[in-house]
Amino acid sequence: DWVMGNYIEEAVARIREQVGSEEVILGLSGGVDSSVAAALIHRAIGDQLTCVFVDHGLLRLNEGQMVMEMFAGRLHAKVVHVDASAQFLGHLAGVSDPEAKRKIIGREFVEVFQAEAKKLKSAKWLAQGTIYPDVIESGGAKTKKATTIKSHHNVGGLPETLGLKLLEPLRELFKDEVRELGVALGLPHDMVYRHPFPGPGLGVRILGEVKKDYADLLRRADAIFIEELRNTRDEVSGKTWYELTSQAFAVFLPVKSVGVMGDGRTYDYVVALRAVQTSDFMTADWAELPYSLLKRTSGRIINEVRGINRVTYDVSSKPPATIEWE
Ligand code: XMP
Repeated sequence: DWVMGNYIEEAVARIREQVGSEEVILGLSGGVDSSVAAALIHRAIGDQLTCVFVDHGLLRLNEGQMVMEMFAGRLHAKVVHVDASAQFLGHLAGVSDPEAKRKIIGREFVEVFQAEAKKLKSAKWLAQGTIYPDVIESGGAKTKKATTIKSHHNVGGLPETLGLKLLEPLRELFKDEVRELGVALGLPHDMVYRHPFPGPGLGVRILGEVKKDYADLLRRADAIFIEELRNTRDEVSGKTWYELTSQAFAVFLPVKSVGVMGDGRTYDYVVALRAVQTSDFMTADWAELPYSLLKRTSGRIINEVRGINRVTYDVSSKPPATIEWE
């Protein structure tokens, strides 16, 4: 619509004026905010923008490929794809404490990103997809810190370390405005309306020690669940169950249980499905998914993902459970 069209024109003009002929780097995660920021800045300054996409090996199925196809392929943006999965998994070996895992992933992320940023010597700006609620949240961080239950990815401090100026074109926008902007910039609806995904990714959805084999099994199970949620509509509202849930995913439990397959006995891993409805992620209800959807999903996971022979559904609300299992 024209309101968004005008907004884009103004935002583009502002970015051009701010940046001039200087170069900008941006950490692309595949999430909504960094994607929309990248698309907007690319619209404004084209090849003066270089996106750095760090793949920590803990992303969802085909996520890296999708990000590259969208930004390098369709938008023709400059994207440096860093496959750091071996490095991340190496540092995570033997570590099973959730907070320790978060710290390692966060620290490695900053390290890998910094190393790439330093290679781009001509860059003067660091762009971030900070949105208005992030601005408010970090403003109140001092008082909230004591009650922080899980440490979140925090890349604050990066621009100073790198000696870069900060470019945050989404600072004044709420999430729904960021999504509208993304669609107006031509990003696919599914990308812009995706459920949130934590920075540490599958690192906190594999309970205990993270292993590549576990991540590979989890990715496939998770993709089946998401596909079924996207393909199943609620008859009353006409919406898909993906739209009717705020966040949904599979969790890998490194526990083996006995099953049967043909005339044989199996002894394989368990996956838990989690789907919640919430408006603010501070409290959340487990979603009353249709049994038929759960049945199809578990049938497919057990048949298609060799190595998983049992699927459970998490019926815990927040509080006292959290949304993620770690
Ligand atoms: P919990 O599990 O605390 O999650 O109920 C609330 C929301 O926060 C997300 N989450 C994270 N996001 N880094 C992130 O970027 C993290 O370490 C992290 N831990 C939880 C979670 O996915 C949910 O949306």
